Amino acid sequence: MKSIQLIVIASVIAIASACKDNSESVSIIPEPDSISIGKDCFKVAGAPSIVGENIPASAVEAIKDFSNHLQTVTGKPIRKNAPAFSYKLDEKLAPEAYTIEISKKGAIISAADLNGFLYAIQSLKQMLPTAVYGNTASKENWILPAVRIQDGPRFAYRGLMLDSSRHFIPAEEVYKIIDLMLVHKMNRLHWHLTDDQGWRIESKKYPRLTEIGAWRNGTEIQRRKVADGIRYGGFYTQDQLRAIVKYAAARGITIVPEIDIPGHTTAAVASYPELGCSGKQVEVRQLWGISEDVLCPGKESTFEFLEGILTELMDIFPSEYIHIGGDECPKQSWENCPRCQARIRQLGLRDKDGFSAEHYLQNYVTARVQKILNDHGRKIIGWDEILEGELAKGATVMSWRGTKGGIEAIGKGFDVIMSPNTYCYINYFQTKERDKEPRRNGRYLPVEQVYGYEPSDGIPENGMEHILGVQCNLWGEFLPNTTHLEYQLLPRMSAFSEVAWCRKDNKDYGRFLTSLEHMTGIYKALDFVYCRYLWGYVGLPGHELPARSKEELDTLDYHKVPYMEY
Ligand code: ACM
Ligand code: ZN
Repeated sequence: MKSIQLIVIASVIAIASACKDNSESVSIIPEPDSISIGKDCFKVAGAPSIVGENIPASAVEAIKDFSNHLQTVTGKPIRKNAPAFSYKLDEKLAPEAYTIEISKKGAIISAADLNGFLYAIQSLKQMLPTAVYGNTASKENWILPAVRIQDGPRFAYRGLMLDSSRHFIPAEEVYKIIDLMLVHKMNRLHWHLTDDQGWRIESKKYPRLTEIGAWRNGTEIQRRKVADGIRYGGFYTQDQLRAIVKYAAARGITIVPEIDIPGHTTAAVASYPELGCSGKQVEVRQLWGISEDVLCPGKESTFEFLEGILTELMDIFPSEYIHIGGDECPKQSWENCPRCQARIRQLGLRDKDGFSAEHYLQNYVTARVQKILNDHGRKIIGWDEILEGELAKGATVMSWRGTKGGIEAIGKGFDVIMSPNTYCYINYFQTKERDKEPRRNGRYLPVEQVYGYEPSDGIPENGMEHILGVQCNLWGEFLPNTTHLEYQLLPRMSAFSEVAWCRKDNKDYGRFLTSLEHMTGIYKALDFVYCRYLWGYVGLPGHELPARSKEELDTLDYHKVPYMEY
C-alpha cells in the first residue's frame, strides 16, 4: 500500500513539473531533423485550430480530424480565445517537410503539402500521452512541450512491402498497418499481391484468377516440403482495393501494387493453363520456394493477358510506379518450349556476356510490359534480376540480393530502391533463440542490424541521386496469421523508419532505444503485438513455447501443436 502511494505522489510531481523540464517528454520516431526544447508548455485541451489560406483540401481534412480527435480524447470541447493550433502553408518548405513551434501561446505548424501537415500532426501526437491513440476521453496531462522542430525526410521513397500471396492478410489488418506506417512517416506500401501460392486481386476480365488462383489445397508446414492438406485462400475485391487505396492516400501513402512476372506465376497458370509453356493443368502451389511453372513469352496471347490484367490494375491503383516483379524466374520451361525457342530465333537472341538467350527473353518480357505501362504514363519497378542481360531505360531497380544489384544499376544510370535482404528482410529471425521464436525464414536480422543500415555504403560518388529510397520487406511464407505478422514487423519497422527518414549523422541507436520505450506504448494503444526480446523476453506474449531440440522440431506433428509453432 505504502509503495503504491509513493508511486502516485511521484507521478503527480512528475506531471506538475512537466512544464519545467520537457527533455524527457519528447521522444519521436523517426527522430526529427532538428529539435530544440524549451521550458513552457501548451495546454491543448479545448485548443481551437486555425487553418491558414490555401492549405490543400486533403490537409484541411487531416487537420480537422486531428482537432475533432483531440476533443474526443481530452473530453474538452473547443474554447474560443484559448491558445490555438495555427496551421500555415509555407511553400518554401521542401515536399513532406514541416516545422512546429510551440509556446504557451499555442502551436504554429507550417508545411507545403499534405504529407508535411500529416507528419507534423504525427510528431505532435508522439509528444502527447499515448491515450491520444485511443478513441475515448481520458484524464491525462494534455500538454505539449515548448519545442521548435524542423523536419523533413532523407529519402522520398520510404517503403514497406507486404506479401498477401503466401498468406492472405485480411483487409482490416492492412488498414491497421497503414495507420502504423503513417505514425512512422512511411509513404509507400509495396503490395505483393500475386505469386505461385495465390492470386489475390479480383479481375473482371479474368475471373478464374480468383475462382481458382486464389485457393490452394494445402500449405507447406514449416520448411518440410510437405503440405497440411487444408484448403486455404482469399482475395480482395476491386471495391476493397479501391477503398484501401483511398484510405492510404489520405494518409500520404501510395500503394505500389506488384504483379510478379514472368516467374512466381503458378497461381495464374493454374487459373489459365494456356499461359504456361506446356498448357498442362497445374495446381496453385502448396510448397514455398521457386516454381518452374512460369508464363510462356513464346505466345502472343500471354502478352494480351498481361495487357488486360495490367490495364485493370492501373485502373485500381493510381501509383506512378507499378512493380512487375521479375525475380527468380527459372528458364527450364522456356528452354524446352518450341514457341519460346521460336521467339528467341525471331528476335535473334543468343547467349552473350555470361547470360543465356533465355535471360534475354526475360528482358524482352520486361520491355514489353514496360511499354504497356509507359503507354499509360506509368513506370516500372522490378527486383534486381531485371538487370541481368539488358534493361531498357526508365526502369527502376529494387536491390534485394544485398546491395550489389543497386550499385550495378546506379553504375548503368538507373534509379534504384535499396532493399538489401541483409538489412531489410524483416521476415528473418530476430533473435538467436530460434526454438522459442515463431518458425520462419532462416536468417538472423536483429533490430540493431536493421537500424545500422546505411544506404550510402558502397555507393559511388554522385550515385546517391539515383537512390529514390529504401524499403523493408515482410515476406509471408511463415506468417499464417496477423499475430505472427505483427511480431515480425515490430519493432524492426520502427528502426527502419529512421533509416528511411533520418540524416546519417542524426541516427543514434542508444537514443533510438530510449525513444522506443514511448513507441511501445503506441504499439499497445494501436493494439499491435511486437517482439519484446529487447526487453528480455523471447516469443509471443501468452504463447510461451517449450524449448525443443532440432530433432523434435523436425519430427513434430504440426497439426497437433499450438498455432504459434506452425
Ligand atoms: C525476393 O526476395 N525474391 C525478391
Ligand atoms: Zn514457352
